[in-house]
Amino acid sequence: MRKYILTALAFLSAVTTSARERQLFDDSWLFVLSDSAQMAQVEYNDQHWRPLRLPHDWAIEGDFRADNPSGNTGGALPGGVGWYRKHFTCNPQPGSKVFIGFDGVYMNSTVYVNGHKLGTRPYGYISFEYEISQYLKQGDNVIAVRVDNSDQPNSRWYSGCGIYRHTWLTTTDALHIAHWGNYVAGDAKGNVNIRVDYVDEAQQGVKPMIRNIILDAKGKEVARKSSGSILQQLKVRHPHLWSMSDPYLYTVKSQLLINNKVVDETETKMGFRTVRFDTKTGFWLNDKNIKLNGVCLHHDLGCLGAAFNEDAMHRELKIMKEMGVNAIRCSHNPPAPELLNMCDTMGMVVMDESFDMWRRRKTKNDYARFFDEWHKRDLTDMVKRDRNHPSIVMWSIGNEVLEQWSSAEADTLTAEQANLILNAGHATTSVDDKEEHPNQLMARHLADIVRENLSFDKLNTSSPSGRIGGAYVTAGCNETSPSNHLFKSGALDIIGFNYHQQNVKDVPKNFPGKPFMLSESVSALQSRGFYQMPSDSIRKAPVEWWLPYTDPSFNCSAYDNMHASWSSTHEETWDVVKNTPYCAGQFIWTGFDYIGEPTPYGFPARSSYFGIVDLAGFPKDVYYMYQSEWTAKPVLHLYPHWNWMEGEEVDLWCYYNLADEVELFVNGESAGKKQKAVAMPVEGKGALCTPYHAGWRVKYVPGEVKVIARKNGKEIGSQLLKTAGAPDHLRLEVNYDGRKNVHTSQDGSLVYIEVQVVDKNGILCPRADNQIFFEVEGGTIAGVDNGCPYSMERFQDNHRKAFNGKCLLVVRTKKNQPLSIKAKTYDLKNANINL
Ligand code: GAL
Repeated sequence: MRKYILTALAFLSAVTTSARERQLFDDSWLFVLSDSAQMAQVEYNDQHWRPLRLPHDWAIEGDFRADNPSGNTGGALPGGVGWYRKHFTCNPQPGSKVFIGFDGVYMNSTVYVNGHKLGTRPYGYISFEYEISQYLKQGDNVIAVRVDNSDQPNSRWYSGCGIYRHTWLTTTDALHIAHWGNYVAGDAKGNVNIRVDYVDEAQQGVKPMIRNIILDAKGKEVARKSSGSILQQLKVRHPHLWSMSDPYLYTVKSQLLINNKVVDETETKMGFRTVRFDTKTGFWLNDKNIKLNGVCLHHDLGCLGAAFNEDAMHRELKIMKEMGVNAIRCSHNPPAPELLNMCDTMGMVVMDESFDMWRRRKTKNDYARFFDEWHKRDLTDMVKRDRNHPSIVMWSIGNEVLEQWSSAEADTLTAEQANLILNAGHATTSVDDKEEHPNQLMARHLADIVRENLSFDKLNTSSPSGRIGGAYVTAGCNETSPSNHLFKSGALDIIGFNYHQQNVKDVPKNFPGKPFMLSESVSALQSRGFYQMPSDSIRKAPVEWWLPYTDPSFNCSAYDNMHASWSSTHEETWDVVKNTPYCAGQFIWTGFDYIGEPTPYGFPARSSYFGIVDLAGFPKDVYYMYQSEWTAKPVLHLYPHWNWMEGEEVDLWCYYNLADEVELFVNGESAGKKQKAVAMPVEGKGALCTPYHAGWRVKYVPGEVKVIARKNGKEIGSQLLKTAGAPDHLRLEVNYDGRKNVHTSQDGSLVYIEVQVVDKNGILCPRADNQIFFEVEGGTIAGVDNGCPYSMERFQDNHRKAFNGKCLLVVRTKKNQPLSIKAKTYDLKNANINL
């Protein structure tokens, strides 16, 4: 009997061993920031090059300078040309195929293996792969990658420089499943469509058997099918649905078999869900009507720059999720694939976006240069790479492309001007165009590329169960008139406005029969911990897009009372979205601050003020407004701090939910009971109380303020703010510990340490800016930050000043080593933390 089992097991393993192997290829690269054609050659002497592990961003290591060619819009960090080389041995089986894959290289990468040029990819956000089998030899092989980010400016935000995402080495049989050749989608009824495209490089003409097996999250088989067809339909009974609250994933094993032997096998995660956008009621997931409470995110990860890190990404998404965010817009380019995996597992839906420009450039050297030649390839690759993610519910063919208008030139503008003017709208629309304009054809052409790659059968775009896969095409449009070429083209399934919340009321009239959302919204401006009073007067910065804005503080007010001229306060737009059933939701600009685009300031400002959370990952106060509206968690957030000039009038705001009344006490004396207002103040005006916060204006006296929240007269919560004394010592707290999270990171884990400057009683000193030095044992410093948008301190250093009382240290751990961190200052007591 035992013999029989062993034989059976041996047989099983024989039939399921595929030739495919996929390995991370990030280790042991060499890097130099200079340029020579010789660097591609095998014999080039790279001994003096710097060893590093990918992902890597050389720009983030640099100094901020006003004369860096990216400009402060691009983050004022360096560009240039860099080379990467890696020596590796690879002894594949005869006949097998080897591929090198890049998740993202910014930008203009050219890859060589053993001196042979494999190709060039201009778009810095696209993933790509080259076959290298024919160039490999026994023993030492050299891969060399030239990265050219020297033609600047080419971006309206910080791009980063280098091989900033993961790299992969894949080996397969000559007969193998094509790169991104799997396409899987399931609906809420358990119908699954699977397409498996394969390549037969040996051209032996043998037709493989294709077998798809669906496993539930516990690994139990729930469906299987084998046939000679690349397109299969399977059914899973009583599927466990994928939803935001329960993002349940299945795995599809797809196999190619020859004579019953598995020659290739891939695994694809999938979820069963049905997505629908309704003209009257907005977004539906599995027959549940849900408001898309979304944020836009750029790809940089604060002080790590563009260098992708799973822990950093996970922390960002976790902070967003805790705020109540249920939707992410990858603005304005394809994201790291891991972001999509995390949205799949964390239950957030995604708008996957392709481009920030088409043919018409927004900055002098941007992707418009390459658009004609590359758009089809890049858009196809994006859709093929990403189409299996249950989290993706929309595909955006572009953000605020200038082709919305017949004529709109940004060619002659500086990057700063372009960023402002692009938001301002244009007078020259195409209302009178009688003929179909080329821009409309372009919109349809791009939408067709998306749809074609989302159709299971190219001949027939609709699948038996309707819209399996949820191929909703949209675009971020800041021209809201129906004469916008993108709208006129009919190519968009969903009308997406960027800003213009005041025009939302006209949508049913102007776009009958079309679902609608705010693809981008708000653009309020705030520095964490900085407050300008009176809080009920709204500041526009700049007042008009063409006017300069200056303020010696280089800060923006963190009451929700400041925004760009084309945008609104957070409350104003949320009020529209919340009360408009046909608005599917919004994507706020932005969830996190990002490097670059420091509207409304010029240099030395070099990162954004738009974030709900600052660049270091510390929430600004309005975070709690959203949390009080978007989650069921009890929220009571009184702000600002309680350190002012004696006798000064101070506005206190309170975000809360669950309670029906809040009462403020200044040193024990009531300053009045308040409730949220019933209606918003008239557009552009602020108020001490609105439907989203209660507020008081009181005279400052040192001591304490306390807010008590009551429901039906019963106290349900309270919060106390105390006047801080002089800075006395530092407090170190673990803000995020990557090691506790389930993820697939193969990097060293990241630990985020929040540093607070506190007085002798442990109260945060809200204006402290002490210089803090770090010493780390058992790890290395991955970055430092404090969320200050105009700090000129390097992100990769061993010291940082506090900004409004706080700063951040990010440490990369070493395997199995205890971590010990010391924080020192010139004038305060030091602090330690051991982990
Ligand atoms: C939008 C644009 C974003 C960003 C934002 C700033 O128009 O799509 O990329 O520039 O404005 O308000």
